[in-house]
Amino acid sequence: SSTPAASLSPFVLRRVNLFSRLTDEELSRIARNAQRRSVTRGTVVVRSGDPTDSLYILLTGSAKVTNTDDEGREVILSLLAPGDFFGEMGLIDGSPRSADVVALESCELLQISQPEFQRCIVDHFDVALSLMRGLVQRLRVADRK
Ligand code: CMP
Repeated sequence: SSTPAASLSPFVLRRVNLFSRLTDEELSRIARNAQRRSVTRGTVVVRSGDPTDSLYILLTGSAKVTNTDDEGREVILSLLAPGDFFGEMGLIDGSPRSADVVALESCELLQISQPEFQRCIVDHFDVALSLMRGLVQRLRVADRK
């Protein structure tokens, strides 16, 4: 199910690392322009190869980021916990989704559209920097593999 996230309290959004330094006013603006989605266990929220249109933030629950190897076996790239974001890669370079993101239990998600996300990173250097930090951390993990 999907509903406007306007009623989401700034307190909830402030716990999201990406947004931790924004003002209440800005958090309310993001909430007004975002959709809140509830999904059940096993839902493929983002599917590898699909076109990209939004960024997601996991508010509650857990999810896995997976790919398949050459033999068709599932490879877990990452596990996501509340406060984590996903779906940013396609928004950054316009490419299709690079992996599947699957709910491991019932999850509450915040879905932020591409234009809103772009406005947010243009207006707030902190958000752009947090995003880059997240990407660098993933690159470090990938380098160790
Ligand atoms: P996107 O490519 O838009 O859709 C799939 C998402 O999975 C991707 O954005 C990232 O948010 C996430 N993702 C892809 N690869 C990895 C990885 N190696 N580690 C963690 N998250 C990933």
